[in-house]
Amino acid sequence: MPLMPHEDRMLPPCATIGIMGGGQLGRMMAMAAASLGYHVHIFTPEKDCPAAEVARYVTVAPYEDVEAVEAFARSVDVMTLEFENIPYKAAQAAQAVKPFYPSPEIVACAQHRGWEKQFATDAGVPTPNYQIADSYEGLLRAVEHVGTPCIIKTTTMGYDGKGQYRVLDASQCADAWQALGMREVIIEAFVPFVAEASVMVARGQDGTMHTFPVTRNEHEGGILRTSYVPCGLSVTTHTALEHAACAMAQRAELVGLLAFEFFILADGSICFNEMAPRPHNSTHWTMDACNVSQFEQLMRICAGLPLKKPTLRATCRMVNLIGDDMEQLTKWHHDPHAHVHVYGKAECREGRKMGHVNIVGDNL
Ligand SMILES: Nc1ncnc2c1ncn2[C@@H]1O[C@H](COP(=O)(O)OP(=O)(O)O)[C@@H](O)[C@H]1O
Ligand SMILES: [Mg+2]
Repeated sequence: MPLMPHEDRMLPPCATIGIMGGGQLGRMMAMAAASLGYHVHIFTPEKDCPAAEVARYVTVAPYEDVEAVEAFARSVDVMTLEFENIPYKAAQAAQAVKPFYPSPEIVACAQHRGWEKQFATDAGVPTPNYQIADSYEGLLRAVEHVGTPCIIKTTTMGYDGKGQYRVLDASQCADAWQALGMREVIIEAFVPFVAEASVMVARGQDGTMHTFPVTRNEHEGGILRTSYVPCGLSVTTHTALEHAACAMAQRAELVGLLAFEFFILADGSICFNEMAPRPHNSTHWTMDACNVSQFEQLMRICAGLPLKKPTLRATCRMVNLIGDDMEQLTKWHHDPHAHVHVYGKAECREGRKMGHVNIVGDNL
């Protein structure tokens, strides 16, 4: 297919970008879209969600309501998603009406921990040793094969460390099988990583591809706590991360954003963990310490605007505000280096992401 010049596909101001999902990522996308002069239409099953507050149009309906999805698609110029677990059928129904980025196939692949690892393997990217099981007997065999310690995860629907069970010896398998709801699981060897890192890849409608600077991440109880740029990893590791992420994005013929999480081993080698077809928590620092935020870049991709080549403007530490962390809000508001982003969630629960702070350092 001949590639069109940008100018032929740029959406004019006041065009509408549709977003499936109404969480904080949709909220920050909508704010970026508004800055570029676009309207946003949110499709969400949840009334009063974080994104609805800042969007021009909102449809409240379940993702399974195909007629509502089609009507939503007809009302917009282009669509993307902020909630990665939208049903494949909803993405397909939307794509049949208007362009939908990333493709429903990429979205479906990223929804399944086994499929995304197979995809990494096909692209020549190493993953932890793993097995899939959909019965208790299968689980026992898989744990014996993979060895302990291992992590058992539901193949679908897990997030923020939910849907996971750490197993130190095989006697815990019965508990794990029960706790995870007796459904298809993936058994992953425990990776003795020295660091975790993520790479965000952006690829435009014309195939232009850029990565955001690599981020180093620290998790607590499976949930992201702090991210750092620059990542401080060796040049070799850094290059390997970028190559792996770009190889996978290219192979998927990505249009949109695709975030990759990796483990870094003591010898500097890398190991793929998971991917997400949307903006990623670890890349929120781009809102205050980069020439383009991940949200603006995605809106640019959707609207057919030229992508910006991301460059780091300053060192940055991103801290998530989770549950009770909101009690420190006043402290952050007093810090002149802190850029505070609050998601407008009415209810503050333990483990719930309520906002984040970007602490921006001296200019590089
Ligand atoms: N195989 C593994 N070995 C070691 N640690 C792991 C493994 N899988 C997950 N973890 C830890 O748990 C965190 C969350 O797991 P992840 O698979 O990324 O699920 P989620 O979708 O909840 O982010 C990871 O960032 C990492 O700190
Ligand atoms: Mg993760």
